[in-house]
Amino acid sequence: MIIYKKTQEISDWLRIEAKNAKTIGFVPTMGALHEGHLSLIEVSKKENDLTVCSIFVNPTQFNNPSDFEKYPTTLENDIYLLEKAGCDILFLPQKDEIYPDGFLKKNYTLGYLENIFEGKYRPGHFQGVCMVVDRLLDIVSCHTLYLGRKDYQQCLVLQKMTNEFHPNVFIKTCETKRTENGLAMSSRNLRLNETERKTAEVLFKCLSQIKNEANHQSLDLLLNSASDEIVGAGFDIDYLAVTDEALIEITHLTKGEIYVVLVAATINNIRLIDNLIFTAL
Ligand code: PAJ
Repeated sequence: MIIYKKTQEISDWLRIEAKNAKTIGFVPTMGALHEGHLSLIEVSKKENDLTVCSIFVNPTQFNNPSDFEKYPTTLENDIYLLEKAGCDILFLPQKDEIYPDGFLKKNYTLGYLENIFEGKYRPGHFQGVCMVVDRLLDIVSCHTLYLGRKDYQQCLVLQKMTNEFHPNVFIKTCETKRTENGLAMSSRNLRLNETERKTAEVLFKCLSQIKNEANHQSLDLLLNSASDEIVGAGFDIDYLAVTDEALIEITHLTKGEIYVVLVAATINNIRLIDNLIFTAL
């Protein structure tokens, strides 16, 4: 695996590879890599001549400074895992490579997506996500951008951003990797102690119950009882909702349509998100 730290170097190199008709898949990350990230690398490797991963803990997407400071870093292990997964190129920039002096901020038009769910509880978060991915896509000229559906709203937001600023980049979303008990893998799980990790399994359990029962029972009742169970386990809930594919909340299902049940909840200052996607029967 080649490691690039300088914007100009990786950018020049990839442009030549793209000219030589190589297809390039790109997996942006903030490091503390786990099997979820590696599954994106695996899909990209299957579908492209070259796979590029970036590790950059992007300060502009953290609305909470302590979340940024406590964000786990495990660089040595990340490099080991990427080598093992057969990743071709790692882009490992410092902050001034991504945001050099004089960097011009754009304002991304995200519509309602900016103010609901993650946008509501993390003001400015999606502007920061768009800013970094827009910049990364200027540097890493790729054909396909690989994103995890665990961050469902992020996928919608980035689709909107790329439609406007990188219309030639195709977005491929990949399924959520979980532990054997269903906990969605997340870099933030590293901050959970063993008891909290066990407790956190309640999120997947409740999402699964709603998904499985939604065709037969009132959504209100299901959401209320799931919410009681999650709070009873020790979480504070930011949101728990059933929405359509575009993240608009709904009150009843229509046969054949696709829905999302999603949750964000905090335990001991560690905020976790998860969702399940399902089709109404
Ligand atoms: P990060 O949280 O490191 O996630 C990088 C990518 O891995 C995202 O597309 C995310 O959805 C995906 N991912 C995380 N957990 C996953 C899991 N359990 N299964 C499958 N995919 C998973 O998301 C970000 O970083 C940042 O916002 C970023 C897009 C890199 C911009 O800074």
